Amino acid sequence: MNKYLHDFPLLCEKDEKGRRLAYLDNAATTQKPQSVLDAVMEYYQKSNANPHRGIYDLSMKATNVMESSRERIRSFIGAEKTDEIIFTKSATESLNLVAQSYGMSVLHPGDRIVLAVSEHHSNLVPWQIVAKAREAELVYLYTDKLARIIPEEIEEKINERTKIVAVAQASNVTGVINPVERIIERAHQVGAVVVVDGTQSVPHMAVNVSSMNADFFAFSAHKMLGPMGFGVLYGKEELLREMPPFLYGGDMIEYVEEQASTYAPLPEKFEGGTQNVGGAVGLSAAMDYLDKAGMENVRAGEKELTSYLMDQLHSVPHLRILGPDDPQERIGVVSFVMEDAHPHDIATILNADGIAVRSGHHCAQPFLCRLGVTATCRASLYLYNTEEDIDRLAKSLKNVRRWLNVGVR
Ligand SMILES: Cc1ncc(COP(=O)(O)O)c(C=O)c1O
Repeated sequence: MNKYLHDFPLLCEKDEKGRRLAYLDNAATTQKPQSVLDAVMEYYQKSNANPHRGIYDLSMKATNVMESSRERIRSFIGAEKTDEIIFTKSATESLNLVAQSYGMSVLHPGDRIVLAVSEHHSNLVPWQIVAKAREAELVYLYTDKLARIIPEEIEEKINERTKIVAVAQASNVTGVINPVERIIERAHQVGAVVVVDGTQSVPHMAVNVSSMNADFFAFSAHKMLGPMGFGVLYGKEELLREMPPFLYGGDMIEYVEEQASTYAPLPEKFEGGTQNVGGAVGLSAAMDYLDKAGMENVRAGEKELTSYLMDQLHSVPHLRILGPDDPQERIGVVSFVMEDAHPHDIATILNADGIAVRSGHHCAQPFLCRLGVTATCRASLYLYNTEEDIDRLAKSLKNVRRWLNVGVR
């Protein structure tokens, strides 16, 4: 029995056929342990008020809870200062913040923005908008047959004209871990800043933004056991200080006059409007849970389970895995295709067997185009998954072509 599973009420539920859900869509969102559910509930039961606004005790309590969550988040990702931790509603908002605030301010016609072709649309579309507005050039780092960034691309494409490099630490399609340290080193050599999309990496491995030397780092709470509607942007203080606000309104101002305003210091400058304190509390509790498990153990356990998943998937006839087999090179996010079977059909058949996987383009259409497919099925693991989940997946996959009446030919 997996030692984490019993902490996740949803995953312990049984359906009318007496089956547990084999939840293999963790790259989309993760389930929540009881401790996270309790922490959010307790916040609303005992500490809820609008933070930073009232001078009565309860509002100050809410402010304290919010600021101690910021400290918890800072320490989890190894940032140096709490002022470098900006609360947002999602990784998507964090990445838009950097694109709109930093990108719009520093880019000039002819400058380069370099992205990996494997980026999620959230780290791609915002840069298309900025590139167009500032007449900058959007350049892609391409991948090899195993969906890994080609090393020579890093040296060639990140050149003196490059002002911004935006890259995910781990791919949400293939699970490939990108060489972000090498990319950051190269970008800094030419004076560019690097925006790391950590949405798929922070949940699965120990991350330290200071030793990585990332300039910006974005992620979402809900992909790491926390609640939806809460995200984080880490940014180096000297960069954040110079950037204009992204959202304007309450809480982010210093003085407002009829015709002009001055803005609050960091981090409030970027936190216009009432913040999702319950979300911050939930993420802190999720980080407590992950720290108790130990991120090294989370990564080691996932590597083992990924090897098992690879072996089982390889035993399914007509199935092809995208990306490398070696768990050292990837997280437990595995895309695959099957001859003569559309991913949506596969996912529908798996669903009937009580197995949840994702099918489609995974918000990474340019990458799927590069991989030569229009859609894939994706099984993605987290610490509560078991070999039994994977056995059920493999067994069900072996029946797919028969159900679709293509296996007999
Ligand atoms: C790599 C990556 N970046 C960004 C996002 C966007 O996250 P959110 O939808 O929580 O904003 C996702 C979501 O799947 C992702 O996988």
